[in-house]
Amino acid sequence: MNIALIGSGGREHVLCQKIYESKLSKNIICIPGNAGTSKIAQNINLDYLNFNSLLKIIKSNKIDLVVVGPEEPLVKGIVDFLNKHKIKVFGPNKYAAKLEGSKAFMKSICKRHKIPTAQFKICKNTNDVVNFFKKTNFPLVVKADGLAAGKGVTICKTKKEVLNISNEIFRGKFKSSKKLVLEEFLIGEEASYFLIIDNKNYKFFGSAQDHKRVGENEKGPNTGGMGAYSPAPIVNNVLEKKIIDRIVKPTLQALKKKGKPYTGFLYVGLMIVNNEPFLIEYNVRMGDPECQVILPRLKSDLLKIFNAAVENRLNKIKIKWKKVKCMTIVLCSKGYPLKIKINKPIRNISKIKDTKTSFIFHAGTKFLNNNLVSSGGRVLNITATGKIFKNIRKKIFKIIKKVNWKHGFFRKDIGWRVI
Ligand code: AMP
Ligand code: GLY
Repeated sequence: MNIALIGSGGREHVLCQKIYESKLSKNIICIPGNAGTSKIAQNINLDYLNFNSLLKIIKSNKIDLVVVGPEEPLVKGIVDFLNKHKIKVFGPNKYAAKLEGSKAFMKSICKRHKIPTAQFKICKNTNDVVNFFKKTNFPLVVKADGLAAGKGVTICKTKKEVLNISNEIFRGKFKSSKKLVLEEFLIGEEASYFLIIDNKNYKFFGSAQDHKRVGENEKGPNTGGMGAYSPAPIVNNVLEKKIIDRIVKPTLQALKKKGKPYTGFLYVGLMIVNNEPFLIEYNVRMGDPECQVILPRLKSDLLKIFNAAVENRLNKIKIKWKKVKCMTIVLCSKGYPLKIKINKPIRNISKIKDTKTSFIFHAGTKFLNNNLVSSGGRVLNITATGKIFKNIRKKIFKIIKKVNWKHGFFRKDIGWRVI
């Protein structure tokens, strides 16, 4: 099969690697890809949000299946567009993608179907915000309704903070929407639970915990994710049943009733409060860096799984997992998530070979005059598998030492809960 993979992060590098390893794969194009994917696929530099030019490339490369990594093209309707042109694509339709594209949409589904989630109010103006104050305690969480590239959520300790942030959103800080969701702050442990879904079936696709804050001890601003590990020990069988029965099933049912069933990866972001799962967010894609710790544990052929999903026969296949644990630490450009410098050379990578239990997945990297340089905030995902998280992390530290990238930094406490 010829595959087109959309995206350019660490998530896409590991997806590309697994597709490359599949018995079914022939040619892979990555749009746009990164320096890592360029070694195993053909990178094509194109704005994937320009669906018409994307279609041309897909046709001229005789692509059999399109795999979409990031959320933005999904929320903008790439699946509906490609399906209309008879191209097979793995991912949710535009309506279903609103689970991530609109927090108000997601919360409304929760309310209608009694799905456990933080108490909330969808606000269109300051009056709505002030009315909610009377009913809740602080801190409060302010969430921009639309896509905000990971910058839309603020935890506020005072009324003044809530009002400041709210007014910015109402004035259009995030172009995707001027609404916001105000919600109660839940105290618990976060976990991410993944599913792969077709029109009729869903299957478990791993669990993980990531570290969103930039600093050690969970301090500092939120990032896309500084590191992750899988599996997440908190997700046991009892909890899993609750997640499926109370959260996943009613959501899938709601979309089916609208005639827009969910397909693709579903990322269920949870807060576990006294062993009870609360839905914090849905993402309509794999997590990044969660994907980098889930896929190295996958034993089955990824393309066979994607094929089964787009042909609605996930019930006919077995998805097998290796009995290993996996961790990734993100090597970031100094200054991330605020101001960063790009085009900084990364010299030592060529000397470090992947092994059966350690991998470097590229994220913000590119080649500049044949030299590997950084091109974003999150640059490399140093990843390893093993039996004990403590030893896995040691293995990762050793590799980071070899990389010895003076323009970068990383968190040394990834996985503190399990170590
Ligand atoms: P979201 O984009 O909705 O996942 O929010 C980003 C991060 O903010 C989450 O991963 C949590 O760490 C935190 N967060 C979001 N909503 C809540 C909440 N209601 N209570 C506590 N923390 C939250
Ligand atoms: N690591 C969080 C996310 O992918 O949304």
